[in-house]
Amino acid sequence: MSSPDSTVDAVFDAVAATAPEIRAALPGRRVESGTENESGESVLAGDLYADELLGDAIIAVDGVGSFVSEERESAVDAGGAVGSGAGDALAVAIDPLDGSSNLRSNNAMGTVVGVYDAPLPASGRDLVAAGYVLYGPITTMVVADETGVREEVVTADGDGVERSVVEADLSLPATPTVYGFGGRVPDWPADFRAYARSIEDELKLRYGGAMVGDVNQVLTYGGVFAYPALRSASEGKLRLQFEANPIAYIVERAGGASSDGTGSILDVEPEAVHQRTPVYVGNEALIERLEEALDRE
Ligand code: AHG
Ligand code: MN
Ligand code: MN
Repeated sequence: MSSPDSTVDAVFDAVAATAPEIRAALPGRRVESGTENESGESVLAGDLYADELLGDAIIAVDGVGSFVSEERESAVDAGGAVGSGAGDALAVAIDPLDGSSNLRSNNAMGTVVGVYDAPLPASGRDLVAAGYVLYGPITTMVVADETGVREEVVTADGDGVERSVVEADLSLPATPTVYGFGGRVPDWPADFRAYARSIEDELKLRYGGAMVGDVNQVLTYGGVFAYPALRSASEGKLRLQFEANPIAYIVERAGGASSDGTGSILDVEPEAVHQRTPVYVGNEALIERLEEALDRE
């Protein structure tokens, strides 16, 4: 069995190698697949294709013992007992295409990856690495592990995929500039609405409808991203295993903070693979203000 570090490297090699193929396939896969996923959301052909390519590539990695995605009912066995013991395998949870509703409107979207050293569903504290691919004007990949956070540009040339590190120590700017809040304003609870009003008076709105693109704005310019608890859905919209945990891990390793409204997302108790959680990530001071605002009632 390979070492966890080499397994993590091999997982992100597989994700980077698959990214150009996914990007090239998107123009022809903007239509509904006619199916729904475990979260009860309609699935696009692009979601399924990305899931198939990434699933095959990640399950084939030596040292990956378990795999799950937003588009799969439960974790699939990838060979090898998952745990944090020496020589144990790792578990990988992905959102193959995050923000796929942006496909029709040709806006940014991405792929989110969480690598855990515990069986799924796992706690964010069991993450050993996390990352995302952003299909924007260029394709980038952000990877966080115990050494820090780096940003790479991923390009496909004639004989394969090239990865070049463009920022070896990605960290959240100290001065916040942008914010992006999901859901509809009337569906925001009063305490979050008051917080949002204060942030609107201070920062610039940057909300593109894909968590990966919106979080990348926050990592680049400083600020706060939220998909809050809603009146209609107290757990919000985003899924813990393959959206909230990986993003919280990345933002916290980049010097920011995360919260589910009461404390770090990484401490949310894992109960089910598709469980949802409210998501607030960004500069520490803005997350502290958020938790104070939600604590007022
Ligand atoms: P996915 O396409 O993987 O289901 O994720 C979409 C999520 C997330 O990317 C984004 O932050 C949020 O949905 C946007 O939701 P709204 O359309 O309600 O703003
Ligand atoms: Mn998503
Ligand atoms: Mn998705």
